[in-house]
Amino acid sequence: MTKISFTAKTTLDLAHSKTECLVVPVFQNKAAKPTTPASDHALGKKIASYLNLGDFSAALGTSATLPGSIGIKRLLLIGCGAKSQFSRMAQRRFAEVASRELAKGKAKDALIQLDDLALEAADFSATLEDLARHIVTACYIYTETLSKPPEPPALKRVCIHVGGTFSAVKSKSALVMGNAIGLGTNLSRELGNLPGNICTPSYLSKQARRLARLHSAIKTTVLDEKKMRDLGMGSLLSVGHGSDEPSQLIVMEYRGTQAKTRPYALVGKGITFDTGGISLKPGPKMDEMKFDMGGAASVFGTVHAIATMGLPINVVGVVAAAENMPSGRATKPGDVVKSLSGKTIEILNTDAEGRLVLCDALTYVGRYKPIEVVDIATLTGAIIVSLGHEACGVFANDDNLASALLEAGEQSNDRGWRMPIWDDYQRQLDSKFADMQNIGTGTAGSVTAACFLARFAEDYKWAHLDVAGTAFRSAPKGATGRPVPMLVQYLRGRAGK
Ligand code: BES
Ligand code: MN
Ligand code: ZN
Repeated sequence: MTKISFTAKTTLDLAHSKTECLVVPVFQNKAAKPTTPASDHALGKKIASYLNLGDFSAALGTSATLPGSIGIKRLLLIGCGAKSQFSRMAQRRFAEVASRELAKGKAKDALIQLDDLALEAADFSATLEDLARHIVTACYIYTETLSKPPEPPALKRVCIHVGGTFSAVKSKSALVMGNAIGLGTNLSRELGNLPGNICTPSYLSKQARRLARLHSAIKTTVLDEKKMRDLGMGSLLSVGHGSDEPSQLIVMEYRGTQAKTRPYALVGKGITFDTGGISLKPGPKMDEMKFDMGGAASVFGTVHAIATMGLPINVVGVVAAAENMPSGRATKPGDVVKSLSGKTIEILNTDAEGRLVLCDALTYVGRYKPIEVVDIATLTGAIIVSLGHEACGVFANDDNLASALLEAGEQSNDRGWRMPIWDDYQRQLDSKFADMQNIGTGTAGSVTAACFLARFAEDYKWAHLDVAGTAFRSAPKGATGRPVPMLVQYLRGRAGK
């Protein structure tokens, strides 16, 4: 992945500027007609004469590219709609469209005329951040297993003219933040997109070690099957039992403040392929179960982003990695296993494997005395029935933590919606042959899955994000990198940044 450099400048002499692409926001007047941006003065009225043609409405979401003049090769106009309606949501759309067009185009550098927006400080900083984040994510392409990969985006350098009212230092910091979120999101997408024969539990361990080499503040430890057996992680181990790929419990410790400060914990479901096991899934779309490590991928992406930002908190990221396969050694429906917590589980459906790896990881993470624990998992098809592909399910045993995550989702445009984990649902998990069974009785599948996890998270403040509907898309097929933006925003909030 080629890095894109971001700079901000407070002064700009357009008439003597050189760029392959000048990005100019264009607003509409009361009659919904485009207005000529102030910068046009220095561009020999090129924009005004183009707008006169009437081809471009400047409605929010629209864009047009025209040839520039001497030093400025292209002009990329971005429609912003009415100035009076340029809300945070509209600003975000502006950033998304500009980013998409820049990533599609041939320009190697871009100059974004943000001064024309005349935004309030908070909106300005958020828009700068959005621009960096969306440019980085728009430039992501998957190449790893293609013998003839597509041309990578040409864009290498982006300079943003912020004008005199917004400081260069603040601008730079917003760009650094946005860039970090973009890079974290892309890392998460890349891990998700890699096929199951490459992205195995051992591959994820390697990636965790790579992150530790990249950031001196990260320490990675991997527990192999022997270590997990000695500890008593019978539930996690039961999932990979039918696979030739050894299961791994991956721990990434990020130290952003004194060692004695209690950490925040992220726990990711890392099923690198979910066939369902003996409770085999049907054939159609089974390939999409390579995305069943999306929760784990978001832990990697988030840890990468916060380490890049240097957030002054401690975070421990735990990934429970296994491959769920049928075989002569695989766990069978009716098998009873003993979890690390000591509780026994009757496995009635081997396809409800996510909760089986997560429960042991949740117990394990307790030893870090975490301030709050958030687990992230492509846990249930039922959450797609409830919330579709728009929001992830947010379950929590603590209202303050739930609100923090919901709010972080709003701020980062990576939303979640609260779901219940009332005791009323718990009886669905009663079993005759063990302390609990791993599936409910048919209704509210996402809630009973969360209720199962809740039994292993009683000792701390905990939330569970069911991202089965948001971590990847079927068409165009690919990992989205969600909920990295939400998680990074949540941790920034906790770090006061
Ligand atoms: N990984 C799946 C959930 C899933 C489904 C993720 C679709 C993404 C898209 C999970 O392991 C699973 O199989 N869940 C079962 C649970 C059931 C057996 C209680 C499900 O949702 O059907
Ligand atoms: Mn499954
Ligand atoms: Zn699964």
